[in-house]
Amino acid sequence: MKFLAILSCSFLVVTSCALETPVKPHPQNQNQEPMDPNSAAPGIVLPPSSDSSQTPSSPPTNSDLRISDVLGTQKQINIFAGYTRDISTVSARLEDSSLNTTVLAPLNNAITSLPRKPWEDPEDYSAYGSVAYDGKDGEDRASRNFRRFTEAHVVTTSPWRESEKVQNMAGGELWWEYRNGVARLMPGDVEVERVVSRVANGEVWVLKNALNYVRNSH
Ligand SMILES: *[C@@H]1O[C@H](CO)[C@@H](O)[C@H](O)[C@H]1NC(C)=O
Repeated sequence: MKFLAILSCSFLVVTSCALETPVKPHPQNQNQEPMDPNSAAPGIVLPPSSDSSQTPSSPPTNSDLRISDVLGTQKQINIFAGYTRDISTVSARLEDSSLNTTVLAPLNNAITSLPRKPWEDPEDYSAYGSVAYDGKDGEDRASRNFRRFTEAHVVTTSPWRESEKVQNMAGGELWWEYRNGVARLMPGDVEVERVVSRVANGEVWVLKNALNYVRNSH
């Protein structure tokens, strides 16, 4: 039931996006929301800078907050923030002050413009055809894929230094490097737009695209 709610909610997001885009010439510049007083301090939104030897950009750490406290306050990544609340392994980790995490949150429009939904896997369509996500088994497959997508964007290390190979919660390995002053996640070469939050148990990075989320062979 819960999963169906996610499906329909995300479907609504896609639909409203598709309807709004043509009639709103400057959707990004209009409704700037006031800063939540409980979120990280203003001024933390800095572009990645090549003079940092540690992580892309250096917003000050707000050590009174956890990632779970700040993730939902960032409007431009609120689709992914919703995913992290729906996957219990991820939500537990982001609330845990004893475990550091780097959240790699794709922008909303990166998620809504994916060629397939986060819970779809071409291998499932090959194996089961168009009914791949019907019925109880289909729902289980979709849940597993959705969890893998979300966990692939949660890195179990913070601070995370350039070139340092780390694991995500889905068991994949990744690292990042600067190129022309821009932080890029590898493999996949996904640009990090900026680091939006730095809190007691880690950091939130905003990605211009979603990471590749094909089935992990390990
Ligand atoms: C966790 O993050 C904090 C804040 O950046 C840092 O001081 C601490 O060393 C990190 N712990 C580990 C085990 O990486």
